[in-house]
Amino acid sequence: MSNTTTIIHDVIIVGAGLAGSWAAMVAAQQGVKDVAVLSKIHPLRSHSGAAQGGIAAALNNVRPVAGTGPRGPLEQVPPGAEPADSIDLHVFDTIKGSDWLGDQTAIEIMCRDAVDVVYEYERLGCVFSRTQDGRIAQRRFGGHSAPRANFAADWTGHVLLHTAHEQALRHGVKFYSEWYCLDLIIEDTICRGVVALDVLTGAIHTMRAKAVLFGTGGYGRAFKITSNAFANTGDGVAIAYNAGVPLMDMEFVQFHPTGLYKHGILMSEACRGEGGYLLNAQQERFMEKYAPDKMELAPRDLVSRSEQREIDEGRGVEADGQGIWLDLRHLGREKILARLPQVRELAIDFVGVDPIDDLVPIQPTAHYSMGGIPTDVDCQVIADASGAPVVGFYAAGEAACVSVHGANRLGTNSLLEASVFGRRAGFAIAEFVKGGAKLQPLGGDPAARQRQRVREMLGREGGELVEDIAQELKTTMTNNCGIFRDEARLRQAWEDVRALQARFRTARVMDKSSRFNTDLLAAIEAEHLLTFSEVIVAGALTRTESRGAHSRTDFPKRDDKNWLKHTVAHKNGADGPQLSYKDVDIDWQKYPPQERKY
Ligand code: FUM
Repeated sequence: MSNTTTIIHDVIIVGAGLAGSWAAMVAAQQGVKDVAVLSKIHPLRSHSGAAQGGIAAALNNVRPVAGTGPRGPLEQVPPGAEPADSIDLHVFDTIKGSDWLGDQTAIEIMCRDAVDVVYEYERLGCVFSRTQDGRIAQRRFGGHSAPRANFAADWTGHVLLHTAHEQALRHGVKFYSEWYCLDLIIEDTICRGVVALDVLTGAIHTMRAKAVLFGTGGYGRAFKITSNAFANTGDGVAIAYNAGVPLMDMEFVQFHPTGLYKHGILMSEACRGEGGYLLNAQQERFMEKYAPDKMELAPRDLVSRSEQREIDEGRGVEADGQGIWLDLRHLGREKILARLPQVRELAIDFVGVDPIDDLVPIQPTAHYSMGGIPTDVDCQVIADASGAPVVGFYAAGEAACVSVHGANRLGTNSLLEASVFGRRAGFAIAEFVKGGAKLQPLGGDPAARQRQRVREMLGREGGELVEDIAQELKTTMTNNCGIFRDEARLRQAWEDVRALQARFRTARVMDKSSRFNTDLLAAIEAEHLLTFSEVIVAGALTRTESRGAHSRTDFPKRDDKNWLKHTVAHKNGADGPQLSYKDVDIDWQKYPPQERKY
């Protein structure tokens, strides 16, 4: 590897998705002079851009036509009419969606700030779809009891990301594009910076900062079928865990009901929000059995489980019976072209099916990571059960666990969370830096361990390919720690993950060069997948109940007496994670736990 230098900024943000871009934009806007963003891919390829169907906020622009039921037509709310939606309803839907594992203060903040954030996007020039009278258009989404998904056709994440990125550039934020964060420098629970690889040159740099934020996204790539971009390898959570920071609620992984069959690519929930049906091999709308009221617009955990049941009981479609039909034909050409153009293109390009005329084969796909790096509501990372902070270290968006989604996230709440908490992080970081935070001294050369790690990886000859190990990991995580779990399968997953970790130590990277070595990056990413997967499995094995997306066939009921608590995992050397538990923040008067029915 080539020579390295130490780089210094006031603030370093890792990840250029919505959380990172908002944090950068706001910190700079608030007067922090020197804000830098590191992104392992081009910032506009960040995975926030792949979210399609909407961003939640109770704007009250649209309401169901009276007397037409939960799937009937929508109309503009006439000026001055009684509001049909409210922030309180959004809060309640989110708490219920989370299966009461979401922290209620954080949820209230998110839903309250939602309205402001969406109007701020509008003010910044974001190209939302519109109602006939020019207000931001809204549609239905699963688990929300009012149409509050604010959207730009099915390109919502894309347009929000462009808006936030433009604003970060406008405020003078420096972007390091295709720089890969390898390590987090924490000494005495004070964050001092990161170590990063310049992918183009192969040089490894120490980067010092007064504050660091991880907006590094989720960890869906630990599964075989996923809607997640190739980049979503949970680097941030793995790096934080290795650096001694705990991870919270990692066992809660969301499977989106409509991934394109075999590919996992997202077919937006907006397909069902706009009125699409799910059909089994007998062409039955099977959701009638599982969620008679909400039908296809039940929350994702419930719909994915229902699909998987149909598949497991032999009513799946396609040659291997592993698919389900998504039927959009009755929506008509005009609506599909106006509201779901991207979904249509994806179906045509990847499975050769035009949803205007044909049924689209779909299946559940690993989509969202509810767990992550624990933070308070200002995105300050929490070091331990006492709530002590890791000074100068912040996290937001999917990499973080604040926790607004608890055991199951509602669709459209992720673009919202990334925006609201990215923005809050920007304010908190600005206050911290402008309040006199200092660049902390470093002990030794923090980059040395990473240089050694890379040298050692590149030096391995013979042995199996890193890629084969990554594929085996994804297979066991999907088969044994997927939609349905039980003790036997989870024990299998645990043994597999530990064995694969051991095999990885002698696995081979084929490309030995320095410049733009994507084979090396894939190896580092595989190591990250192996690192945090043990936390997912350990949490799932220990949690002997079913809650939200964590569904144990051997413990099919939610058990509030024993499990109404967050899982906190600390790395415990070679022994795997050490688990402890933390109370959920609940307003017992306002939102006490209830049975969750749809
Ligand atoms: O289905 C979708 O459009 C995805 C949205 C989300 O995950 O929030």
